[in-house]
Amino acid sequence: MKMPIRFGVIGVGTMGYAHADYLRNSKVDGAVLAALCDQNLGRLEELKNIFPNVPCFLDSDELLKSGLCDAVIIATPHYDHSLIGIRAFECGLHILSEKPMAVQLSEAYAFAKAADQSGKAFCVMFNQRTNPVFAKARELVQSGFLGELKRINWIITNWYRTQHYYDSGDWRASWSGEGGGVLMNQAPHNLDLLQWICGMPKRIMAKCDVGKYHQIEVEDEALLIGEYENGATLLFHTSTGEFPGTNRLEIAGDRGKIVMEKGILKFWRLHESERSFCFSSKKSFDKISMEYEEMRFNVKGSAHGKILQNFVDHIISDEPLISDGRDAINEVVLSNAAYLSSWEDEWINLPGDSSLFDSYLQQLKQSSTKRNFEKEFKNEGYQERWQVRW
Ligand SMILES: NC(=O)c1ccc[n+]([C@@H]2O[C@H](COP(=O)([O-])OP(=O)(O)OC[C@H]3O[C@@H](n4cnc5c(N)ncnc54)[C@H](O)[C@@H]3O)[C@@H](O)[C@H]2O)c1
Repeated sequence: MKMPIRFGVIGVGTMGYAHADYLRNSKVDGAVLAALCDQNLGRLEELKNIFPNVPCFLDSDELLKSGLCDAVIIATPHYDHSLIGIRAFECGLHILSEKPMAVQLSEAYAFAKAADQSGKAFCVMFNQRTNPVFAKARELVQSGFLGELKRINWIITNWYRTQHYYDSGDWRASWSGEGGGVLMNQAPHNLDLLQWICGMPKRIMAKCDVGKYHQIEVEDEALLIGEYENGATLLFHTSTGEFPGTNRLEIAGDRGKIVMEKGILKFWRLHESERSFCFSSKKSFDKISMEYEEMRFNVKGSAHGKILQNFVDHIISDEPLISDGRDAINEVVLSNAAYLSSWEDEWINLPGDSSLFDSYLQQLKQSSTKRNFEKEFKNEGYQERWQVRW
């Protein structure tokens, strides 16, 4: 029998606690919780009480070098994902990083390079990929069932957050702490799904509205326009300041259309190619014959737990990763290009100029206001609000 994979969790706040709790309750086959690390001394003392038999470290480097772990989950604020991740790969550990894999594309490239050099497993927590609605959409697009893509519209404005949320942690909603707003924290899930389902556009134009609905220095609304190599267009609108919000993804192709909303996938399947029909029909106002199908899915279990189990199965038995870390770079390409477009007020051909992005970000970090909030830790497991909300 193989020894279980020994996990360390670095950054044991809201999300890290939920991962640690899931592991300690033996919910992941083939894995055990072996160590914890949090740089907040008060938090570390709490953790020692909650997890009395688990070694706790204040410094991530000490955990990485301790020899106690085979793999780490990094659930710190964003900037440290790649910094700690690169060190962890150098120490020969497998890594599951929280999203986004990095704030800057330059860091994401360095992170992926370190993964390649180490040969260790690399996964990013894009838990929404386990949702069967999106998996089906991907299958329909990638298999060519939907035909050549024409148009993608995603309204994802149900990431509603109050001012209290932004004031609940000193790293939140600042360029120096979080590295961005809705595009860096909430919408990475959707940017990743977009590229996972439809592939990457060739260029992006964006308008990011800073502090439109909250007292924050980063954007709480963003509108992206994109263009694909084949001419297909993208409209992506996200916000944390709208209630009730909408989560509606619509993808139109030459062979039909799919619409995903409220957990249902609606599929209009054309019996022939629209492009051929357009030029072969002898009537001015003709219609293409089609079928309509509604697909409802039974979503069971924790999405985060599924990613974690898949990561372990990948390490133990080479199961393909649902969310490969190298693939997570595309999400960073999209967010960085959107910011750059908004700052430069022009179209950005992907992947965009990462050093120009870095210099803008550097200036924003220098003028960033230090936020001082006493964090209250709730110690809850995986939460309903992290599942796909419709
Ligand atoms: N996948 C998801 O659905 C999901 C949901 C929520 C949060 N997240 C992600 O999880 C990460 C953490 O978010 P959170 O809400 O738990 O934040 P949090 O503020 O609740 O927790 C962060 C913890 O990291 C600790 N920390 C900070 N820097 C550290 C370092 N260098 N070394 C060790 N510990 C460090 C802090 O003391 C704190 O305890 C973020 O990247 C966030 O985007 C993902």
